[in-house]
Amino acid sequence: MLILIQPDEAGVATYAYEWLRQRIQRKPRLVLGLATGSTPLRLYRAMVEGYQRGELDFSEVITFNLDEYVGLSRHHPRSFYRFMHEHLFSHVNLRPENIHFLDGLPDDVEAHCEAYEAAIRAAGGIDVQILGIGRDGHIGFNEPTSSLCSRTRDKVLTRETIEDNRRFFGPGEEVPRWALTMGVGTILEAREILLLACGPAKARAVAAMAEGPVTALCPASALQLHPRVTVVCDEAAAAALQYQEYYRWIQANDYRLHEVVQKAKQARDTQPDH
Ligand code: PGA
Repeated sequence: MLILIQPDEAGVATYAYEWLRQRIQRKPRLVLGLATGSTPLRLYRAMVEGYQRGELDFSEVITFNLDEYVGLSRHHPRSFYRFMHEHLFSHVNLRPENIHFLDGLPDDVEAHCEAYEAAIRAAGGIDVQILGIGRDGHIGFNEPTSSLCSRTRDKVLTRETIEDNRRFFGPGEEVPRWALTMGVGTILEAREILLLACGPAKARAVAAMAEGPVTALCPASALQLHPRVTVVCDEAAAAALQYQEYYRWIQANDYRLHEVVQKAKQARDTQPDH
């Protein structure tokens, strides 16, 4: 797990945008897993601006969103589909047929979730999964005690998550208690994962994810088992990390690896009898 600490939320978004831009440019038909919530909003804004500048082309990109509330139709103002539509989909040239979303009103939950998994497989698997993290360590809507091998399914949300989500709903509006979500096992099959975390409320979850035991009590800790996870967090979200100094040391030195090898090679090659 590579942990990068940025000074603030803007720094997190700038880094995340650059990380993602390189991947979309390298593979125009990128299969991109997307997340909702406040955290990725600045990244989505940067993606829209990148598209408007002509830097990004989404015409081949395929997306799969992590989760959706049960009981809300796609067009409901608080649905995650609507959220994505408002913040990203309607502003870039993603093809509607390349956008995949769980349906909050499925006829048959199990069949629908299986079909979602099948669609991910048919697309060739997720190349890059963007994640946020809940205060309780959830990823997607995999709440504490979720199986670390779970697949896409329905989940009852914790009271804490329901309270956290209330800010997106109007006064008197009921906050859904159920969601459909990709499982932890589904997420772990993504080839690369980018997790973003901002603000002091996430500090405890970030530390448990990166430095705690791998446990269903913090579903994000399962990311320790994935070989290619990049965590980008701001100072506040990094505050409880025990090995902060080491992560900063890595960050300060890592990019120089290539440079050091090149220099050593040049020195070797200029010696007469290398
Ligand atoms: P947030 O949610 O970005 O709104 O904090 C993150 C999450 O619950 O995964």
